[in-house]
Amino acid sequence: MKFVVAIDGPAAAGKGTIAKAVANHFGFSHLDSGLLYRAVAAKTLKGADPVAASEALHEDDLKADNLRSPEVAQMASKVAALEDVRLALIDFQHSFVQQDGGAVIDGRDIGTVICPDAAVKLYITASPEARAKRRFQELLNGNKSVTLEAVFKDVKERDERDVTRHASPLKAASDAITINTTELTIEAAVKAAIKVIETAFERTKQL
Ligand code: C5P
Repeated sequence: MKFVVAIDGPAAAGKGTIAKAVANHFGFSHLDSGLLYRAVAAKTLKGADPVAASEALHEDDLKADNLRSPEVAQMASKVAALEDVRLALIDFQHSFVQQDGGAVIDGRDIGTVICPDAAVKLYITASPEARAKRRFQELLNGNKSVTLEAVFKDVKERDERDVTRHASPLKAASDAITINTTELTIEAAVKAAIKVIETAFERTKQL
């Protein structure tokens, strides 16, 4: 049985951390779909054509070590607005969720476009200020010299691009359950997500 958990939300809302923690808790595999766009962006920054780069994407490309940089993040949200890039990346995501067992996949359009039939859809969000502070802290921990203002600007720009683009814009699926992490610890957010997934899991066992 394929039990798919789709997790969407804006940058730095905590969806990646929650996705990893719930995958670990349930023994499901996990794909951070943002890495696909980041890998295409990293190649684009080196001069590749984004559509050709997305068509030729290999899973080893997701292990490149500069994918978390703010420059790659900004370019990722630009290449992610290209319909042909999104189309080229669909098969990779579908193959991932078609493996046996449970799968957790996080991104921006998982519950709306990639896996509209997912057993569980979560939309993880938080205020732009809280998200910028978290991302700022992460970058500082990684010894990156950044200012909170620059990170806030980056988060707002990406939000704007992700929400307003024509191709698969960021939005909560109509049947998604929203978890707002602004005032939550990561432990509390993970606990809330686990509860939703457990309930859905029990329901599918009864079918
Ligand atoms: O999640 P992450 O911040 O790594 O994603 C980087 C960028 O990739 C996002 O700003 C977004 O533009 C794009 N993305 C997307 N659809 C996804 C995952 C990421 O458009 N499913």
